[in-house]
Amino acid sequence: MKQQNTAIIGTQWGDEGKGKLVDALASQFDIVARSTGGSNAGHTIVVDGQKYVFHLLPSGMLHKNTIGLIGNGCVVHLPDLINEINNLEKTGLDIKNRLKISNKAHLLLDYHRLIDTRLEELKGDNKIGTTKQGIGPCYVDKAMRIGIRLGDLADEAVLKDKIVKNCDFYNKTLDLKLNSQQELATILAVREQVLGFLDDTSLWLNTQIAAGKKVLFEGAQAHHLDIDHGTYPYVTSSAVTIGGVCTGLGVAPKHIANIIGITKAYTTRVGEGPFRTELNNDLGKVIQTTGHEFGATTGRPRRCGWLDADIVRESVIINGIDEINLTKLDVLTGLAELKVFYQGEYKTFEVWSEDISQISRFENLPPAAQKYVLELEKMFGVKIRSIGVGPEREALIFRN
Ligand code: GDP
Ligand code: IMO
Ligand code: MG
Repeated sequence: MKQQNTAIIGTQWGDEGKGKLVDALASQFDIVARSTGGSNAGHTIVVDGQKYVFHLLPSGMLHKNTIGLIGNGCVVHLPDLINEINNLEKTGLDIKNRLKISNKAHLLLDYHRLIDTRLEELKGDNKIGTTKQGIGPCYVDKAMRIGIRLGDLADEAVLKDKIVKNCDFYNKTLDLKLNSQQELATILAVREQVLGFLDDTSLWLNTQIAAGKKVLFEGAQAHHLDIDHGTYPYVTSSAVTIGGVCTGLGVAPKHIANIIGITKAYTTRVGEGPFRTELNNDLGKVIQTTGHEFGATTGRPRRCGWLDADIVRESVIINGIDEINLTKLDVLTGLAELKVFYQGEYKTFEVWSEDISQISRFENLPPAAQKYVLELEKMFGVKIRSIGVGPEREALIFRN
């Protein structure tokens, strides 16, 4: 049976394990769509011991019949996209014949990355700790109405004019030495490979939905990195909460029937910004090592700490989340202590030491682990319907 159209949203600061659930559910959907962000995302999937990291392509594309869609709200670095496609095709998958990209998505050029790096340097101690992928500066161009859209690739003269104007503008205002000819050459070298993917994807997607096709909306980043709802200014530059799905693809809210929030059983954060449950001690290191908490995009160590139930509850309320997928419960196995921050104070939980990574039924989890899940459910105010107990596709417990 096909699922209802479903959105997947991170409830913390990213890297909750969104990609894994998208992959686990994707075979039940016809289309998997990304609505925001770019290659600042890193979504890891492990199948039969083989690891795949998706940055811009939707993580559901390991299933050979799934159509991948990159929506108008995304920012696209063309050479990186081509590399990602080619690397996946080397594993035997056909990607090119089932990928669609909005002609309204914005082109992310190398100069955006140079500006990203430069702005971080200028901010000094107040830096955001961005992924340096050029995301913020690309959305700046979009908001300043000088952005270049993928649809502009069709006309070489238009493309050239816009790239030259933008490079000149930043060379003057930021005292940079951007090379517009090189930027243009980079784009022209791959342009032909991309034109075939482009479409008015908003209309196309709505036609598909009207025909009964089912869509999985793959969130990137997470609630507390949202430009409006996150820990501003330590956020990304796009709307990554539920509204961003609608604007980033051109779909009405009524077409999203189910919203799944992804919550790690503890908290991590990459980059700067507030994190009140952070553990700057040996326990934090233990979680970092056991959970392999190193960024999939930048390789940076992720800051680790206890679960903050208040920030998850806020995400549940603001995104209208229907159910939670709790991930990485296995990482808490064997810890010396276990705590959760809730309503202004820490609650202490009983620990467990049994290996849970092979368990497939909730009732078979150690009683202390079951209790942890049931108490979190009360704190979040919504049902925890699935639980991750390992990185592999199958390491998931579904509850009725
Ligand atoms: P995303 O950005 O939300 O898709 O998450 P990432 O892929 O950046 O980070 C999550 C990491 O945890 C990846 O390396 C996953 O393979 C891994 N992972 C996901 N779910 C689980 C789980 O339940 N247990 C364990 N041990 N690892 C998991
Ligand atoms: P996924 O989809 C974790 C963070 C960066 C930085 C801030 C701004 O894998 O969960 P940016 O480069 O977007 O301007 O950086 O946002 N950030 C993420 N952190 N996971 C992500 O994506 C992230 N995307 C951006 O670390 O703090
Ligand atoms: Mg990630």
